[in-house]
Parts: sequence; C-alpha cells; structure tokens
Amino acid sequence: MNSRVSYELVETVGVITIDNPPVNALSQAVRAGILDAIRASRADDSKAVLICCAGRTFSAGADISEFGKPPQEPFLPDLLNEIEASDKLVVAALHGTALGGGFETALACHYRIALDSASIGLPEVKLGLFPGAGGTQRIPRLAGVAAAVDLMASGKPITAARAAELGLVDKVVSGELREAALAYTNELLAAGAPVRRVSELDVDPVDSSLFDELRTTLARRARGQIAPLKMLESVQAALTLPFAEGLAQERELFLELMRGSQSNALRHVFFAERTAAKIRGLPRETPRREIKQVGIIGGGTMGGGIAMTFANADFPVVMLEINDAALARGLSIVDRNYDGSVKRGKLSASQATACRELISGTTDYAALAQCDLVIEAVFEDPKLKQDIFARLDKCCKDGAILATNTSYQDVDEIAAATDRPEDVIGLHFFSPAHIMKLLEVVRGEKTADDVLATCMALGKKIRKIPVMSGVCYGFIGNRMLQPYFREGQLCLIEGSTPERVDAAMQEWGMAMGPISVGDLAGLDVGYKAREALAIDERGDPKSFRVSDALVEMGRLGQKSGAGFYTYDAETRVKSSDPVVLEVIVQAAKALDVERREIDADEIVDRLIYSLVNEGLRVVEEGIAQRPSDIDVVYVYGYGFPAWRGGPMHYADAVGLDKVLARVTEFRDRFGAANWTPAPLLQKLAAEGSTIEAWAAAAANG
Ligand code: 3HC
Ligand code: NAI
Repeated sequence: MNSRVSYELVETVGVITIDNPPVNALSQAVRAGILDAIRASRADDSKAVLICCAGRTFSAGADISEFGKPPQEPFLPDLLNEIEASDKLVVAALHGTALGGGFETALACHYRIALDSASIGLPEVKLGLFPGAGGTQRIPRLAGVAAAVDLMASGKPITAARAAELGLVDKVVSGELREAALAYTNELLAAGAPVRRVSELDVDPVDSSLFDELRTTLARRARGQIAPLKMLESVQAALTLPFAEGLAQERELFLELMRGSQSNALRHVFFAERTAAKIRGLPRETPRREIKQVGIIGGGTMGGGIAMTFANADFPVVMLEINDAALARGLSIVDRNYDGSVKRGKLSASQATACRELISGTTDYAALAQCDLVIEAVFEDPKLKQDIFARLDKCCKDGAILATNTSYQDVDEIAAATDRPEDVIGLHFFSPAHIMKLLEVVRGEKTADDVLATCMALGKKIRKIPVMSGVCYGFIGNRMLQPYFREGQLCLIEGSTPERVDAAMQEWGMAMGPISVGDLAGLDVGYKAREALAIDERGDPKSFRVSDALVEMGRLGQKSGAGFYTYDAETRVKSSDPVVLEVIVQAAKALDVERREIDADEIVDRLIYSLVNEGLRVVEEGIAQRPSDIDVVYVYGYGFPAWRGGPMHYADAVGLDKVLARVTEFRDRFGAANWTPAPLLQKLAAEGSTIEAWAAAAANG
C-alpha cells in the first residue's frame, strides 16, 4: 500500500501489516495505507481481513508528533468507521502495548485476538486528552460504563487476560501470534461468525447517580486537570445519543482538549521526558559497562529505598551499614516497605518475597568487591563521604562505578578522594526512592563517558526517569528549590500563614505546599546546614528565622510530631497550631517586618517565578542540558503539576514579557539580592522570544 502498510492475501485472509517503527504510531501515512488496504480488501477474493503490526508492538496510538498541527486526512475516527463498516470479517491481532488510538483501531475490528504478554491501555489522559477515535463510545458498549471510565481515567494498561475478562478481547493465545491469528480468523469464517460491529451494540444502562459519583471522584483525583471530566462527559453521550452523534460529540470535545494549554503542556512533558535521556555529544553507541551486582552503603531512608529499587528490577543488592544494629534497622525498614507495597497492591506477596530475597546485608567492605556499581547513601557529611570513597577505591574491582546519592555535596571533591575519578558519578534519587520517578545523574568533571552512558541506561532499566545534571550546589532540582522555599518563608513572615501559603500552591496545582514539604523533609536539615556556615553565609534571616525558632522548640517537622503544623501520632493528619502563628509574629517583630495581607496570586508568582528565574540560570550555566530537562525534574521529582508542563514551559505559556515584568516588580519591591532577572530572561523577553525557541536553536546550533 505504501512504505508503512502492506497488504497481502494469505489464502482467503487479507492481511494488513503496519510497519512504522518504533511503536507503529498511526501517522498520516499509516492511516492512508490502512484505508487503501481496507478498500482493496473489498474488491479482492479475501473472505476476511486481519490487521496486525510488525516489530515490537501493536500500534501504541496516534502519532503524538502530529498533534498541535493541522489534522491531515484520513482522520482516524473516519478510518475506523470504514474498517468497522466492512462487510468482511475484520480481526485485530494484538501484541506488545496496544495503546490509545492503536487499541481504538482494534475496537473498530469485529474480533480481537491478543498474545498473553500483550497489554492494552488508554493513556490519552496523560496527554491531557481522552480516547478520541471512538474509544469513549465503543468501550462502554463492550465493558460497561464503570470499567470503561476506570480504564480511561487511570490511563494505566491492563493485561490481555484482564481485557478478555472485560470483554475487550475475544481470545488470548501464547506463542506465534500471526499464525494463531490466521487460524482464529479461519475458525471464525468456518463457524460462520457474524460481522460484529461494536457501534451496533447497546450500552448496559446504569443508575443515574453513577455519573454524579464518578464526576465527584474524578474531579477530586484530577487536581485541576480537565481531561478526565471531559472523558466522562463523552462517555455519558454513549448512553444518551445514537453512536454517530456520540462520536461527533467525542470528536468535538477531543479537539477542544487538543487545542487547550493542558494537553499542550502534557505533550511537552511526554517529549521532554524522552529527550532528557539523550546526552549531547555522547553517541548512542557509547559503550556501556555491565551491571550485575549492586552495593549500597547506608541503609537509612534513602539507602533502603534505593536497594528496593534495584531489587525490584531484578538486581542482587548488598547493603552495607556501619554496624549490626544499624544493618538490622535498615533491613527491617525494607521489610516494612515491602509489606506496604503488598498492602497497596503494588506487588503480590510472592513478588515482594522474591525481591526481598535479592537484598542481603553486610558490615564488611570486602562484600563489595564483586559489585559493578556501589551507591553511597550515608549522612550528608562531606568528610564522611570522602573517607568512604577512599575506602571504596581500595576494595572495589577495576571498572566498578562508584556513585554518591548526595543531595548537595561536590561530586568532584568526592571523586578526588579516589584514584579513579573517571568512575565516580552522582546518582541522586528522591525520597521515597522506591517510589519517586526522578533520578538526577550528576556528571562530574572527570566522569567517563561510558560511566555516564551506563547510568542513563540503567536509570531506565530500574524504571526511573534519568536527567543529567552538572555539578553545582543542589544540582538542578534542590538548587532551584532554595529560592522557592525562601519565598515561601518570606511570605510567611511578611504576613501570610502556613495554611494560606500551602493552600495557594496546592490550589495552583503543586502536589504539596512548600511549608508541608519542609515539615516532611525535617526542619533540622536546613538548621544543621546553616549551623555549619558563617553567619554572613546563611542568607537573609527573614527566610529562616521562623523555621529555626521551631527547631529550637523541638518542632523538627513530621518526625517529631510537630513543625509548622502539628501531626496526629497515629494518623499523621496535620492540623494548624496557633503557637506557630505566634512564633511567626514574634519573628516578624524581631526582624522589623511589618505584616500585611498577601494574596494567593502574589504567593504563587513569587514562588513559581523564583523557580523560573533560577531555572534559567541553571540552563545558562550549562548545569541542565536544556530547559525541558528542568521541566522533567520538577514534574517527576517535586510535584509540579504536569498539566502546567514544568516551570520553563509554564513561563513560556504565561509569556516571558509578563514574567519579566513581574520579576522586575518584585525586584523593585523586595530588592535585587533575591530578584535580579536572569540574563536569559531579559534577553528572550526583549527579543519577544520563548524559552522553547531558544532551546530549539541551541539544539540545532
Ligand atoms: N507518537 C509518536 N511517537 C511516539 C509515540 C506516539 N504515540 N509513542 C512513542 N513514541 C516515540 C517516542 O517519542 C520515542 O521516540 P525517540 O526514540 O525519538 O525518543 C520512541 O517512540 C520510543 O518510545 P519510548 O522511549 O517511550 O519507548 P518505550 O519502549 O519505553 O515505551 C510505549 C513504548 C509504552 C509505547 C511508550 O512510548 C508510550 O507510552 N507511548 C505513548 C502512547 C500513547 O500515549 N498513546 C496514545 C496516543 S494519543 C491517541 O492515541 C489519541 C487517540 O485516542 C485519538
Ligand atoms: P539517613 O540518616 O536516613 O541514613 C543514613 C544511613 O547511613 C544511616 O542508616 C547510617 O547508619 C548510615 N551510615 C552512616 N555512616 C555510615 C558508614 N560509615 N558506613 C555505612 N553506613 C553509614 O539519611 P538519608 O536521608 O538516607 O540520606 C542519605 C544521603 O542521601 C544523604 O547524602 C542525603 O543528602 C541524601 N538524600 C536524602 C534525601 C532525603 O529525602 N532523605 C533525598 C535525596 C538524597
């Protein structure tokens, strides 16, 4: 048919094969090819049609790179109607990940056969969309409203077996799919199976209150994202309108979402995530070291989570602690976390046991001799870390990668404690390490290319999203967090309250407010860090006086049951404490700050624009390879709402002239020390340009 779609007659079955690597996305050429093939099948001797895909997967959906551009015919919904209308039986054969428009294509076929290893899913909601090629109309007809909504709202894939239970797949097979699918098609023909068009089925009626309940649940879970609610509206049309009208309404709502800022932001995050994995100047074929066995030093909060991360990806791990008691404590936390994973349904009991058995403990460095990678996660003490790296240099085999999970320390200084700085790298996980997706891979001055390439690939293998950072205090994420937290604290002392600061940021979309984050991380962390600094190096006391006063009262945050909030000992539910407001008011008095009303807009702009301004410096200094890497860091590591695209994308969406005007206003009101606009912000705003355009030019130049 064309270079992407072929059509051949295998006895009486017309086989349409899509071959559009890597994931058989339904680009214009693919759609056109399928249409030609379906039309050809009408006129030839075939008795039935089989649609399958070459390569690693059935189609993973629409071609996302076409989104945001003028749609080109044939449009997917029209093509699918034409497939469904065929008078000859059409069967889809699924393997790999049949996602989004890919699975909708299968739904337009009359029967579906799947390999047992296949999964199906409707991940559109992750792109700020919902299935827009008949999914919201056809899935409820096969699986019922509740299951359909669940599938489309979560965006999570399900197994072929589960899809069969739901009536979305007719037959599950193992072995060679094409052969099995041809045999199945012939069986259907032999049995005189009817052409079965999903559009002609009725949706099982549901209680009218179901949609109200679903709307409430989805609105709560969506946290500002509109796509799940639009999906629900479209599903409702499947019950109230004839198929063709429901489809038309689905299309209209889908295109409205496509044009909106949320989908634009989420599409940006999709591609940003994949671009972040690529290191400029490092060819794809850079050799990688083989990692079979992993050592972790320190079994505390981070070490335990990191050990689980590797074990969950099937790596044997040895955890080294300072003594037997510390080791027993570390391993018992791992046990507890695995119990939690089982309770939350993340792992089955047998999976958890198998993973746990991969983790062993030691107090002897000799046990690390065969490790291919050792990750240090001890206390944040530079001298301790350097001592440990000097020891690792002596006990680890040649070619082992030596990594530090430090949050702030200089990776180059740590590397200098060894005679092999080229083997040293930062692998900065986020807490809880077995859950959070982000991994900052910190490239030291002397880190070897193959070490970096190995760690970026390994990041993906352990199901993290790796982003490379250069060396600076706090790397990409924590460095930017400093001005963000500073502004949160300044808003407090200048007149706000913990509740209002947190509410403003959460309503804007952050997963957690900055004051609650401080309580979670522990207020003593910053306190101790400041203690180690000379007075004039500690920054503006207005930005830490309240927090330090709380620490001195024994209020360290969640771990001590109280910080900016008070926490219930059992449930950990937080509540406001009038004592804290008193501390804030006293601190303001002591520092001569006149308190005033601060509205939510000011809180949001001060916190988010401080991120933007620092982020642009991070990019200009080359600490981040590209602005979109910063967006990935913030979305996956810091609870930034993905539907706002990350701080850099958000700044573009607001308009850099507006951002600069507000930053300049803050500079005039609060002083240049905190609010000098980043040079790149000034330059791009003056040129009327965007961060994205600048990044694209930098990538090409
Ligand atoms: N369109 C365009 N490109 C796509 C794509 C798609 N749907 N899916 C993946 N790609 C590209 C990626 O950008 C990447 O490109 P790169 O190598 O140049 O960076 C390449 O394919 C490989 O992708 P991954 O690195 O993600 O490969 P994995 O093997 O890790 O994952 C996958 C494969 C599970 C299919 C994953 O790529 C994925 O989840 N893709 C998105 C699926 C999706 O969202 N489908 C719905 C699309 S919207 C839709 O169908 C609308 C419809 O309802 C009308
Ligand atoms: P933690 O205090 O929970 O655990 C540290 C562990 O190291 C303790 O169990 C301790 O017994 C062990 N240890 C100390 N000295 C040791 C030695 N000489 N040999 C072996 N083990 C030793 O600390 P946490 O929070 O796990 O932090 C560890 C590192 O990870 C730090 O560098 C920190 O900056 C970094 N980090 C912490 C994050 C967090 O949210 N807690 C997030 C990301 C990084």
